Amino acid sequence: MISKKNRLNFVFLFIAFVFIISCFSFVFIRNDRFNRKDRILNLSTLAEFPEKQSEISVLIEERGGESGNWATALSLEAFEKTGCPILMGNTFDVTIENKTPYEITDWNIAFTMDKLCYIESAWCGKVDVIQQRNGKTLAQNFNLRTYNSKMVKIDYVETNGQILFPLEKGDVFVYYPSLEEKEVPLMGTAPNKPKSFAKLGFILYGKDIVSADDLLHGELTFKCRKRINQDPAFLILVYISVIWAFSLVFLLLSEGRINEIEQIELRDKKMIQEVMETFSGFVDAKDPYTGGHSIRVGKYSKQLAEEMGLDKKQCQQVFYCGLLHDCGKISIHDDILSKPKRLTDDEFSIIKSHTIRGFEILSGLTAIPEACMVARYHHERYDGKGYPDGLAGNAIPLYARITCLADAFDAMNSNRCYRNHMGPDMIIKQISDNAGRQFDPDVADAMLRLLLRGEIVFPE
Ligand SMILES: [Fe+2]
Repeated sequence: MISKKNRLNFVFLFIAFVFIISCFSFVFIRNDRFNRKDRILNLSTLAEFPEKQSEISVLIEERGGESGNWATALSLEAFEKTGCPILMGNTFDVTIENKTPYEITDWNIAFTMDKLCYIESAWCGKVDVIQQRNGKTLAQNFNLRTYNSKMVKIDYVETNGQILFPLEKGDVFVYYPSLEEKEVPLMGTAPNKPKSFAKLGFILYGKDIVSADDLLHGELTFKCRKRINQDPAFLILVYISVIWAFSLVFLLLSEGRINEIEQIELRDKKMIQEVMETFSGFVDAKDPYTGGHSIRVGKYSKQLAEEMGLDKKQCQQVFYCGLLHDCGKISIHDDILSKPKRLTDDEFSIIKSHTIRGFEILSGLTAIPEACMVARYHHERYDGKGYPDGLAGNAIPLYARITCLADAFDAMNSNRCYRNHMGPDMIIKQISDNAGRQFDPDVADAMLRLLLRGEIVFPE
């Protein structure tokens, strides 16, 4: 059972928990979308706007520059097929550099031919060769370093033991990095760390020299993989979660402590009540005709206080005051207290002194400062004709005015050594007639309401 004090805190923590989980979900979904998105970099755009190379760059170089070209004489069969006796060869190196903090995955680079070329070899990955022939698409995926001629299903030219794949204008070859070639993925680049890059290469032939500019009709397709801890929102949420967890631990500890304190308070309250009831029992024991009087007065007083709208703590204090109101009688001799005959004036004066004596005894009870006032003033009358000080109206403390009526009601409702208890009608008449005289009219009204509703009952 959660204590009232912490109930709101737990509700707040639960709402915070739902909010944090929602934020985490949002961040994960956003990250997943970022990672799934297909991205394309156009090589011609990169060439035209070099600033676009700032994050991911693609550098195509002719190995050896102009002197790196070579001429190769074709066989007769190849000559018949290509229509020229000599082809010019060139080796190309392509460097793809990742300058972003994110990992580049699932990437490939596709080159669309602008003029007739022949690809002979490619390394550091596999190649898709896609040819358009007479309205049909011929395509094959190769590792151009390990295939053999029996595997070839697309258009090719064989010369002097070499196989060349013709790429006409519009044909495409796509380079896929291969894990075996240790070129993928392109890891993200951390600040002050070496840049991450991949290198690939291939050999192209042409009737004329093929240059790097002839390879700009292509595009790099890739995905960016952002690790979740690279998202500042995720890190902020982690910090918030840690604070949330600490708050929960603190709240649970405080909840345990509150429960412990409540148990102690409950035990102390029970002990105080039992001690007070025991003490009031000593007083009541002096006169067997008033047995249980103090407890009944305490209960009636508490009911009156509740009826008059006093708060819980005040009602409990009124109960204790009612319980102890006659404690001064402990100092009155039993012969006077239980004398069945009419008291002499001196004896009555002694009886009346229980108010002052009770006040003196209870002055030391600082936890309930009202108790001594109730002991002193519970025989005062609203019209000022009571004792010991003759206070009137609201000058009499409220708790004493309440206890006064509870005390009188119990006296009228109980048998005494010198008379029997009054009947209900007589008691109600007495209370009504004495409202504003002996009793505070508000307290009297409260008592009449309680009697009318049957919440305070008359004896059988
Ligand atoms: Fe009394």
